[in-house]
Amino acid sequence: MSEKSVREPTANDIPKEKITRKKKNTAQRRWRILAKALIGSRRSMDTEDENEVSVRRFTSFQLFRVNRVDPAMDQDAGVWSEYSAVAENKLFTLQIHRLKRNFTANELIGFNNTGNICVWPSEECLAYYLLKNRHLCRDRRVLELGGGMSCLAGMIAAKYCDPRQVTLTDGNVTSANNVQRIVARNGMSDLVECGVVQWGRAARAIRMARASRAFAPNEQRVKNWTGGGGKDLAKFADRLYDVILCADCLFFDEARSDLVETMYGWLANDGLALVMAPGRGSTFEKFAEAAVKRGFVARQIDRYDGKIWSRHLELLEHSQEYCPDLHYPILLELTKQKKTLLG
Ligand SMILES: C[S@@+](CC[C@H](N)C(=O)[O-])C[C@H]1O[C@@H](n2cnc3c(N)ncnc32)[C@H](O)[C@@H]1O
Repeated sequence: MSEKSVREPTANDIPKEKITRKKKNTAQRRWRILAKALIGSRRSMDTEDENEVSVRRFTSFQLFRVNRVDPAMDQDAGVWSEYSAVAENKLFTLQIHRLKRNFTANELIGFNNTGNICVWPSEECLAYYLLKNRHLCRDRRVLELGGGMSCLAGMIAAKYCDPRQVTLTDGNVTSANNVQRIVARNGMSDLVECGVVQWGRAARAIRMARASRAFAPNEQRVKNWTGGGGKDLAKFADRLYDVILCADCLFFDEARSDLVETMYGWLANDGLALVMAPGRGSTFEKFAEAAVKRGFVARQIDRYDGKIWSRHLELLEHSQEYCPDLHYPILLELTKQKKTLLG
């Protein structure tokens, strides 16, 4: 297992003119990413054999078999599929509803839609990692941030990791509504709640609560939040979480500090955030640096699972479409307490 601690950034690390140029290009880049993803996902949908890795574009590490169920149902809204995986000789299954990718113009110019395009490889790898490490969520309060249309990792935690309670969220209303359907279909409504959480609003609530000393002295949680941001935020802000899950959400430059603040504000003192994302240029690194600056202890783990690592090596050798910087998810563990690397 290769591990490295993330160092504190210095003011000299990122030149000022680079930051300004980046800001200007943010909107263009977001459109490009979305357009690319839309074109790519349509292609793989056209020739869809659920268990076949697209030869034109890398979409999955194939850790889960995906079989459509009820093919006649829900044709307009999306497709129900059974996701199944074998880990430690046990079979794990979940029913997941994937949305059709025919976005309206309003959706395209509205809140970020990347989570409604597909289940991204980081989500797939995080879900699989939890299956192999089920103790991590046992008897814990688990929160997923930016879980997209499936919240696959959070659903795995809910169904198979014996948690105390699970909260699944995304900033996109369509994604959150879809997750609600998935929770109901899998019969998990008693254990799992879901809703819309936008990191900007959550971070604002946390900062304001801190400023007005609304944190309970020993718990640091936001008490009786009345500062707006939606009913889901008010509900979810009233507690702390032992485990926070987050997959492929680190490339939003403008939302980086809000995401860090939300994680820091909502994670219990002895909690663990499991953040999975590809490097995507310097975005992973910048997030890790921002997290350390905020007070987290960060541990980057490249080889967190033998099977995923071997797939990565195979793909490096045989796939022209596979680009580790875009596709190989790295695991970042964030804790609030100082730990030695040996401990
Ligand atoms: C690339 S998708 C990843 C979705 C899912 N985790 C996966 O890997 O399949 C990024 C997700 O972040 C969510 N997101 C982007 N900006 C956000 C924000 N400011 N607040 C909350 N969610 C946000 C999007 O709605 C989207 O679902």
